[in-house]
Amino acid sequence: MSRVAHPAGPRHADVLPADHPPAPPADLNALHPAIWPRSAARRDGVLTLGGVDVRDLTAEFGTPVFVTDEEDIRGRAREYLLAFNEGQNDSGGVFYAAKAFCSRAVLRWLHAEGLGVDVCSSGELEVALSAGVDPSMITLHGNNKLPSELSRAVSAGVGHVVVDSFEEIARLAFLASEAGTRARVLVRVTTGVEAHTHEFMATAHDDQKFGFSLASGVADEAVRRVLALPSLSFAGLHSHIGSQIFDTAGFEVAARRVMELAARIHAEHGVFVTELDLGGGFGIAYMPDDDPPDVKSLTASLRSIVAFQAAAFGLPMPRLTIEPGRAIVGPSTVTLYEVGTIKDVDGLRTYVSVDGGMSDNIRTALYDASYTCVLASRSSSAAPMLSRVVGRHCESGDIVVRDCYLPSDLSPGDLLAVAATGAYCRSMASNYNHLTKPGVVAVKDGVATEIVRRETLDDLLRLDVG
Ligand SMILES: Cc1ncc(COP(=O)(O)O)c(C=O)c1O
Repeated sequence: MSRVAHPAGPRHADVLPADHPPAPPADLNALHPAIWPRSAARRDGVLTLGGVDVRDLTAEFGTPVFVTDEEDIRGRAREYLLAFNEGQNDSGGVFYAAKAFCSRAVLRWLHAEGLGVDVCSSGELEVALSAGVDPSMITLHGNNKLPSELSRAVSAGVGHVVVDSFEEIARLAFLASEAGTRARVLVRVTTGVEAHTHEFMATAHDDQKFGFSLASGVADEAVRRVLALPSLSFAGLHSHIGSQIFDTAGFEVAARRVMELAARIHAEHGVFVTELDLGGGFGIAYMPDDDPPDVKSLTASLRSIVAFQAAAFGLPMPRLTIEPGRAIVGPSTVTLYEVGTIKDVDGLRTYVSVDGGMSDNIRTALYDASYTCVLASRSSSAAPMLSRVVGRHCESGDIVVRDCYLPSDLSPGDLLAVAATGAYCRSMASNYNHLTKPGVVAVKDGVATEIVRRETLDDLLRLDVG
């Protein structure tokens, strides 16, 4: 049986399958600069990250392992901050969304670069506080924050709580007044805009769990209640419209709807919306064809969209905040796996099984996400082999990379690197099949430092107290 599957698909089929894979790349060893961490290179054919040979990384830290390029993360953070704060009088309008990946080291780096942090659970809040993030630069999110989380946020003095329900407004007001303080509040509004990559939908109804609906008038009522409660201080509005967004059309519709509310708030209460948080969702390249906008043009157009709407309603420009998660950490990180078995499904493709899977990257199974991978422990000039990289879980949907080309001399023991796994992979990891979660290793200037320890079976057994 041939390891080189025919790229045209099933041998005897007249019609190509709907998910017909793309053509093989010109060079299987190439590292597309938009997809791989900025420090990624090949030295004598071997992938290096932050100047460290991947064979040394896996010898020391095992596989699978997440390898994070510290300078890549810091560089993107600086670029966002610089671009976004241009033309804004005060700094600090970029809040990293910790849900994308949350560890003390990463929050420390980002805070040192001048970013705030957006958290949505007491776990993320404690990591941020223990990383030394200034509480006034923390924003707390969530559609069902526990009273204990609200209480901790109030006592820690977080900068903003994004309120998401009427119950929460009452709870937060009570807790703040008991603590003898005022909680600074953003009201999360549901604009009816749903945006993903190139597409967005603008609807009148808001069938989702987050926020207060603009269309139904509930958002106006939320603001009314916040303004009436002396232990709450109304800072402004929050809107998050989606994820992996490549163009700003959705933000335009959302900003218009939010600024209409701002105009009504001013007319009814004589109060200006001084802060507007536009959330996150800025897209990154996972595949060579992905072409996200550059940070400068993205942030400039967000600013001009809001400025235009503010002027149209005769309102002052609010202080803008954004909450990028994926765009800060996504491209910085690579997952290294060891190839275990290679199974040729003749005429279709080759299944390459690695020593991780859906427990360290659920995004392919959950969202049908696309990833790019390469043979990392050596280069190869063998012919391209249409492949599917799969994990070792008891689930046929356990796919890491749906379609890719790997060299046909791929062998068990080779290392594979999957790019752009910095966001929503380790943070969504599970222990399915009692696999232990991989560790995270930071690389910089030829030095590797473990920042999240690999789980051990002892860690898992310790929790099993029956
Ligand atoms: C309120 C809010 N802010 C920011 C983000 C971060 O989004 P992204 O990682 O796509 O930038 C999310 C993601 O779900 C979110 O819900």
